[in-house]
Amino acid sequence: MPAMKDVFRHEPSTSGCDVPTCDIVSVYLIGAYEGLAVAAIPTSIIVIGIIYFRHDALLSQELAEYLNDQDKLKHLRNEFFYPKMATLPHVDKSLVNLEEDSVYLCGNSLGLLPKATTRIMDEQFKKWAEIGVFGHLDGEIPWAFCDECCLDGVAKLVGAHPSEIAVMNGLTVNVHVLFTAFYKPTPSRHKILIESKAFPSDHYAIESQIRLKGLKVEDSMICLEPRQGEDILRTEDILSYIEEHGDSISIIFFSGVQYYTGQLFEIEKITAAGHAKGCLVGWDLAHAYANVPLKLHEWDVDFACWCSYKYGCTGAGGLAGAFVNERFAEDKRDRMLGWWSHKYSTRFIMDNVLDLDTGAAGYRISNPPIMLAVAVLGFLEVMEKTNLEELREKSIHLTGYLEFLIDHYFGANSAKDRKVHCEIMTPRDSSQRGCQLSLKFNYDIASVYKELVKRGVAVDKRYPYVIRVAPVHLYNNFTDVWRFVQILVKCVDELEKELDKK
Ligand SMILES: Cc1ncc(COP(=O)(O)O)c(C=O)c1O
Repeated sequence: MPAMKDVFRHEPSTSGCDVPTCDIVSVYLIGAYEGLAVAAIPTSIIVIGIIYFRHDALLSQELAEYLNDQDKLKHLRNEFFYPKMATLPHVDKSLVNLEEDSVYLCGNSLGLLPKATTRIMDEQFKKWAEIGVFGHLDGEIPWAFCDECCLDGVAKLVGAHPSEIAVMNGLTVNVHVLFTAFYKPTPSRHKILIESKAFPSDHYAIESQIRLKGLKVEDSMICLEPRQGEDILRTEDILSYIEEHGDSISIIFFSGVQYYTGQLFEIEKITAAGHAKGCLVGWDLAHAYANVPLKLHEWDVDFACWCSYKYGCTGAGGLAGAFVNERFAEDKRDRMLGWWSHKYSTRFIMDNVLDLDTGAAGYRISNPPIMLAVAVLGFLEVMEKTNLEELREKSIHLTGYLEFLIDHYFGANSAKDRKVHCEIMTPRDSSQRGCQLSLKFNYDIASVYKELVKRGVAVDKRYPYVIRVAPVHLYNNFTDVWRFVQILVKCVDELEKELDKK
């Protein structure tokens, strides 16, 4: 990578735009010219812009490359298998350079494979082949305790004590495990408060939990809606609902980061408001785990669960997690049980007299799946080289840069009056979102998605309006974001051409 000063000389750039010299005055003018779009870009990038670039350079590939060069976490990309254009399916070979990296911005759905995972997995296959059943208790990762080998690392990611964590099952199964234990409705307090746009699996799980208790969903499930015409649930509205109706609510169950809008809820405030009214407060952290720093213990969350295959990079259907606050460690509440709920010290006496394990360990049911635990361990090996605080710092810049470019090309002040356009649905305040931006289109998202995929972009679509784009702090860089936006502009141009023909 050339030094910054060499990149930003007067030569024509590879992207075709003239690379500007340092021009502080004109960069200041960008603020007036671009208005809100520039306000959205993180301060550090504006500062770089103010010091070194003029307006057009803020849009240049060179800026993206400069930011990559400055990124102290750039080495982490090499810890993952990053897909090439040539290996992605559905790519139109005439539209891409097959040698190039693809534009993978879909870690909100399925994170990339850490190289460490393949090594640890091969070690387990070898061990299985060589020692069979002895593998349960022998070797570097005794399979009978493979979930426990993950506890320290996972606890750190969610801000908990290891004894508050269980690594087990799938996410929705853990929703059921936790609700079976914590949902104890009474005639005066039987309601469950969720978001109106909760993920379908959570919605169905809660409905079924209500019915399993002999109650009616219409009476006991409250789905809190955003204000009319808004997509984002305002914290003030959530808090005032709890204040007004909390006395009849048994459990408040929200997602940490909302899958559709990308909103990061104010977990600490909402938890405290629920507690003030005597409710239990649980969280589905599917989109928050390994995305944003969490402090479940400090925030006094009652229980939580998450999947690990998104930002946690454990592969499809990867091993999920659960948090049970230490205040419930000894309470022996009724729950779903199995032999792994039983303390290890007496488990193999096999007398069918339950000696319930303490803490989250007592919520386990089955023996842990080593092949799934390997993927958690592979990811944790990567996490040993970094931490969520520094990843978050990068993430705010990366997502802010995406926001800036989207606003520039599609926002209200963009130069082109477009028939096909998108706007950012995710909150503008970086403290209220994680890696993901949800782009809300005024056009059929399946067509936009198809054009993107043809050009080697991996993102995902969620009906009715949204394409989710998640530059992930661990392996994405500013060039991925820059290339995505260039490709999106091309796709939209193509779709508009088609529209003009009609
Ligand atoms: C918020 C949320 N809840 C639940 C699920 C379902 O997870 P699983 O199929 O692993 O149970 C998902 C999956 O993406 C999700 O995003």
